[in-house]
Amino acid sequence: MRVLVHCHDDTAWCDALSQRLPDAEILPSSTPADQRGNIDYLAAWQPSPELLKQLPSLKGIVNLGAGVDALLNNPALPAGVPIVKLRDAGMAKLIADYVRYGVLHFQRNFDHYARQQAKQQWQPLDVIDKADWPVGVLGLGAIGHKVADAIAADGFPVHGWSRTPKPLNSITCHHGEDGLFTLLSQVQTLVLLLPDTAATRGIINTNTLAALPEGASLINPGRGPLIDETALLAALGDAHSDTPGRLRGALLDAFSTEPLPESSPLWQHPRIRITPHMSGPTPLNEALDQVAETLHAMNNGEPVETVDPQAGY
Ligand code: GLV
Repeated sequence: MRVLVHCHDDTAWCDALSQRLPDAEILPSSTPADQRGNIDYLAAWQPSPELLKQLPSLKGIVNLGAGVDALLNNPALPAGVPIVKLRDAGMAKLIADYVRYGVLHFQRNFDHYARQQAKQQWQPLDVIDKADWPVGVLGLGAIGHKVADAIAADGFPVHGWSRTPKPLNSITCHHGEDGLFTLLSQVQTLVLLLPDTAATRGIINTNTLAALPEGASLINPGRGPLIDETALLAALGDAHSDTPGRLRGALLDAFSTEPLPESSPLWQHPRIRITPHMSGPTPLNEALDQVAETLHAMNNGEPVETVDPQAGY
């Protein structure tokens, strides 16, 4: 089989895959088009439409990440070609650490202390017990589920939400529209780990933000389009006032447009912390097995778990 690899560290992936699949021809996407021959499989993160158009005999795609939104929205995605996405592959641990940092940021008042420091104030605040700090996790897929478990293991009561019921033991599970509002009404910090689909876009909007308790906080290591940014800014209150709106603060790693444009008002808001989509990069060593096994299985006609393009994940 001939596999084309396209991601920011093509060379490392090509070397590692060539060792795992010695009978396969593994090529980096920098290989000139006239030297590629017929490519059977593409292992890629966010390939351009131009690249996809150059692969007329493609039999399958391995998405080198968890979210398939960029691929499914690619206008040159060939219809009917099976897509397999990474399922966790080491990302959940990294994202759990990011979320842990964010939950502690708010629970231990680091946002308040940053403001105090700017005014040279020394004023320790009461510590609220972890048991009294419920955390909500929207999205209980391969990553959301593990993140919810990790936060629960740290001692926080965790409420999880998914569209359809998920029977998980370590957390309180909710589902459906009613379940969403039940969860929102009782969490101090809300974590977004849903895929970006037609059903989830804008799920954090004026109505859902209003359902959170006064003083709640938001962490988004998931996807930017989940949040209506205008509603978010309104919920955070006036950027020039020390008094927050209903929402106390937000830690954001994903945005509708990435890189976040210089002109975005999110950059300047004092109650927003911004990170550049770094919460869960794909760790090659841990993802390699999944990618190699998937390519091997697809090439041998064995069953693989494919993405449902209609559902969007
Ligand atoms: C990163 O955002 C991913 O989907 O893997």
